[in-house]
Amino acid sequence: MFTKPAPPSKSDGIIIVGAGIFGLSTAIHLAERGYTNVTLLDKNPYESTLYSYLNGCDAASADINKIIRSAYGTQTIYQNLSLHAVEAWDAWNQELRDGGAAVPPGMSSEDVLWINNGDLSVTDADVLPEFESSSIKNMEKAGYADTQLVNNNEAHLRLAEEKGFSARMNPFYKKLLGVMDTTGGIALADKACRFALHKAKRLGVHLFLDSNAGNVLSTIQSPTGKVVGVRTADGKIHNAALVIVACGGWTPSLVPSLDGMAETTAGSVVIFKIPESSPLRQRFAPDNFPAWAFKIGDGPEAGLYGFPVDEHGLLKIGYRGTKYTNPRVQPDGQERSVPITRWSQDEQIRQIPAQAVKVIRMFTNVYLPELADLDIWLTRLCWYTDSFDNQYIIDHVPGQEGLMVVTAGSGHAFKFLPTIGGWSWQWRSLKEGEAPFNKLMEGSKGKRALRYVSML
Ligand SMILES: *[C@@H]1O[C@H](CO)[C@@H](O)[C@H](O)[C@H]1NC(C)=O
Repeated sequence: MFTKPAPPSKSDGIIIVGAGIFGLSTAIHLAERGYTNVTLLDKNPYESTLYSYLNGCDAASADINKIIRSAYGTQTIYQNLSLHAVEAWDAWNQELRDGGAAVPPGMSSEDVLWINNGDLSVTDADVLPEFESSSIKNMEKAGYADTQLVNNNEAHLRLAEEKGFSARMNPFYKKLLGVMDTTGGIALADKACRFALHKAKRLGVHLFLDSNAGNVLSTIQSPTGKVVGVRTADGKIHNAALVIVACGGWTPSLVPSLDGMAETTAGSVVIFKIPESSPLRQRFAPDNFPAWAFKIGDGPEAGLYGFPVDEHGLLKIGYRGTKYTNPRVQPDGQERSVPITRWSQDEQIRQIPAQAVKVIRMFTNVYLPELADLDIWLTRLCWYTDSFDNQYIIDHVPGQEGLMVVTAGSGHAFKFLPTIGGWSWQWRSLKEGEAPFNKLMEGSKGKRALRYVSML
C-alpha cells in the first residue's frame, strides 16, 4: 500500500474533528495511551444539546438507541470485536453505577448505557437464512455456545427461560422464525455519547464544542502540503501533528480521496410516541421486547430494524432496504452524496421516502398491529457513511501527510463506541472483478438519489 508515517509523539498536538462515536472513541483511546495534547472539535454544542436529535443534533450517533449484537454470520472478526465490545459496555455500565466523577452532568448512577435484552433477527421464511446459521456455528466455535437461540427450538426455548429471555423470544403478533442473540441488546445512544464525552474530558482531552469555536472551516497546510492544523469559525488556528477527520456523513465530501471507497447514504427512521397511560409502554418495554431486525439484507421490500420503547415513550423503527443518496456537485466538479438532515419544521414530519413508510406499515400492520392506529410522531433521515465493502476505514489518507480518517461505519459501528478507538481498518480500493457490497457513487444517475424518490 503506502508507507505509514511514524506515530506522533505523546505530547504532539492531535486534533479530532467530529464528536460522534468515532471521534469520541479515538479521543478516549489516545488519552488512555498517554497522548497529552488531544483536542476534540465539533460545531454541535453537545454539552448542552446532549446528543439529542430533538435538540438539533443531526449526527448518526445522536440518537435514542442503537442495536448491539455479536452475531455476525461468517464475519468472525467483527464477532470477536463485538464480544469484546460487550465486555467494555459492561465495564462502562459498572463505572457509571459506581457513581462519583464518572457520572456526566445531568445523568445519575441509576442510568444505564446499554441493556442486554437481546437482538432478535427474524425472517418470514420457514428456514433460517445462511447468515443466522453461520452466526450460531461461529459463536459456538468461539466458545459462546447457547448464546444464539432459535425461537422455534424447544431446547433453545428452555435455555431462553433459564437466561430470562423467554418473554422476548416471540414478540410479534404473528410468529416469525428467528434467532435471539442473547449477548446483544440496545445501547442508549445519547447517554452513551454523553458518558464517553465526559470520560474524554476527565482524561484531559481539550473540548471545543461550539458553532464557532468548534466549527472547522478548513485544514491548514505547510508549504510542503502537510496538514498541520485547522482553522475554526472564530478565526482561531489550532496547530497539530495530526488531524483526524471523524465527521460521519460529512466525511466523504470533506476528504475527496474517499471517492469510490465511501459514500454517505440515508437510513429512514420513524418514531412512534406511546402515551404514558397506554399498556403498550409495558408491552414494548425492554424487559418484554428486544431489539430486532427483519430480513435486513433482503432489498427494498424489507430491511427493517426496531427497538423497545424508551423512557419517554418513543419507539423507533428503521428502514435500510434502500440506502438513499443525496448527490450534489461539489466545488471540484465531482458529484458526492451529502446529508440533508432537516427540513423546515412543518415539512419535517412528511419528509421521508414513501417506500420506507410503506414497508414499515406493511410490517407493523401484520406483526405489530398495536402500532397500526398510531400516527408516526417523527421521521428522520439518518445519514451514515458506507464503504464499498461495508467495512470501516480508519487509516492515514494516502498522499496527504498529517491527515487521517475514521469513518465508514456502514450502519454497524455504534456498538463499538467503547473500543473502536483502539483499532484501524486499512485504506483500500475495490479490486478488479470484486463485487461491491454497497454500490457507491451512482450519483444523479442512480435511482436511490432522493430527488427521484417520492416523499411522504
Ligand atoms: C477474540 O479473539 C482472540 C484471538 O483469537 C481471543 O484471544 C479473544 O479471547 C477473543 N475475544 C473474545 C471476547 O472472544
